[in-house]
Amino acid sequence: MDILPATVADLRQVLADHHRYWGERDLRALHLTALVQEFGDTCLTARAADGIRGYLVGFVTPDATGYVHLIATRDDTRGTGLGRTLWTAFATAAQARGARRLKAITSPANTGSIAFHRSLGFTAETVPDYDGQGVPRVVFRRELPFGAGE
Ligand SMILES: CC(C)(COP(=O)(O)OP(=O)(O)OC[C@H]1O[C@@H](n2cnc3c(N)ncnc32)[C@H](O)[C@@H]1OP(=O)(O)O)[C@@H](O)C(=O)NCCC(=O)NCCS
Repeated sequence: MDILPATVADLRQVLADHHRYWGERDLRALHLTALVQEFGDTCLTARAADGIRGYLVGFVTPDATGYVHLIATRDDTRGTGLGRTLWTAFATAAQARGARRLKAITSPANTGSIAFHRSLGFTAETVPDYDGQGVPRVVFRRELPFGAGE
């Protein structure tokens, strides 16, 4: 399996198989071509002979935060360490572009994502109204670098 910079064709492919990555949740509107076009080096695809096993869409903000907008692994690859591998590869790419810390968000209902990010050493803070009035989000943060073995 290779971790490669994501292409617009990859984005189209994962959108075609959206349910394999996100189940019943419809996050298609968050898959913005502009992010892959402008931040191609920090958008990553895990590609194997059987297709795209997982992907991540991220970028580095002007305040040196490596922000991951989307991360998902395919339903048949969960729990194999791929999510951790994608975050680690992103951390390396983001650090090379000046990032000093990492951030992501999720909805409070996404308990799997919260457990996953805690396993990777992120703090998890529920912020009321983060996404507008009455729309809280769990904000994950951690410093860089990832330590050896992480
Ligand atoms: C969240 C997601 C990306 C995790 O990917 P993954 O490939 O299964 O994760 P990994 O196998 O790399 O797991 C890394 C660690 O997180 C833990 N973890 C992952 N998912 C977990 C879950 N649902 N519950 C508890 N722990 C979990 C693993 O046990 C592992 O811990 P360890 O390394 O200490 O043993 C994947 O479940 C997914 O794509 N979910 C649907 C999309 C989604 O919700 N994305 C997150 C949006 S913010």
